[in-house]
Amino acid sequence: MTRTTGDRPLLSTGGTRVADSDNSGLSPVVVVTGASKGIGAELARQLARQGARLVLAARDGEALERVAAQCREAGGSAIAVRADVTKERDCLAIMAGAHLAFGRIDVLVNNAGATMWSRFEDVADLGVYERIMQVNYLGAVYCTSHALPLLRESRGLIVGIASLTALVGVPTRTGYAASKHAMRGFFDSLRIELAESGVGVTMVYPGFVATGIRENASGPDGKPIRVSPVKESEVMPVEDCAARIVRAIHRREREVVMTARGKMGLWLKLVAPGLVDRIARRAIERGR
Ligand SMILES: NC(=O)c1ccc[n+]([C@@H]2O[C@H](COP(=O)([O-])OP(=O)(O)OC[C@H]3O[C@@H](n4cnc5c(N)ncnc54)[C@H](OP(=O)(O)O)[C@@H]3O)[C@@H](O)[C@H]2O)c1
Repeated sequence: MTRTTGDRPLLSTGGTRVADSDNSGLSPVVVVTGASKGIGAELARQLARQGARLVLAARDGEALERVAAQCREAGGSAIAVRADVTKERDCLAIMAGAHLAFGRIDVLVNNAGATMWSRFEDVADLGVYERIMQVNYLGAVYCTSHALPLLRESRGLIVGIASLTALVGVPTRTGYAASKHAMRGFFDSLRIELAESGVGVTMVYPGFVATGIRENASGPDGKPIRVSPVKESEVMPVEDCAARIVRAIHRREREVVMTARGKMGLWLKLVAPGLVDRIARRAIERGR
């Protein structure tokens, strides 16, 4: 059974084009943060193929323009807004750009993220904890705050791209798991506050997805580790992850727990939490 959030379908299901968001003949306006690469870029391309009007945000302006061009070629409309989500004024600028270009926001996807890969006792630069919390948690809070007036008007949808580390503990990821747990607490609480507003909240919990995120993961010295410890060819392809998110947006699903291991872990945690700890440790040791 699909659990849904909010009270109406936002986008069409089953068809190849995104349905009208407001009976104006125009497609929904979707803001995607962290759209310059990885899951955000692929999500933007897939939504563009369905005709969405996209507002793409990230720090790397050139990469963002390339993704915007791919989206236009795929049949969508797209604007690129260079922004650092750790700066509240940049998050305001993203939403102002959306309003200026399209006059509305139907979906906000809080996807921008950064990670780490180091045991806590090896971390020499504790600034890693601050930076990860600023991007993953506060960035989502700022964007959501500045998008909410427009989302209320459209009775739209907020999507939070968290991680299985929002649901269970994972070694080498203390700061990352903390930031994703924070996202989960924030959005699960906000969903209740917005229950009467028509604005839905969808939380997404992916497992390992093949992107470049781990090469840029902060190591013990706070610098990128450069070589991924994960067997990237054996984990979920980014196309599959993005397709699952598109489906969740169409259905306004309450949450998406990706991978059988993730779903099983949720139940096992209630009855055998020590076993879940061992599964998490093994996943990190095996790199998949
Ligand atoms: N890949 C996985 O295995 C996995 C698993 C679970 C959850 N996730 C989550 O999925 C989301 C996307 O991850 P990914 O794998 O696609 O990572 P990625 O390929 O490294 O992409 C991360 C995106 O976030 C943007 N970003 C980072 N810091 C930012 C900042 N301060 N301001 C604005 N944008 C910023 C990056 O753009 P710029 O560098 O251009 O700013 C980039 O577009 C993240 O929230 C991540 O935690 C990923």
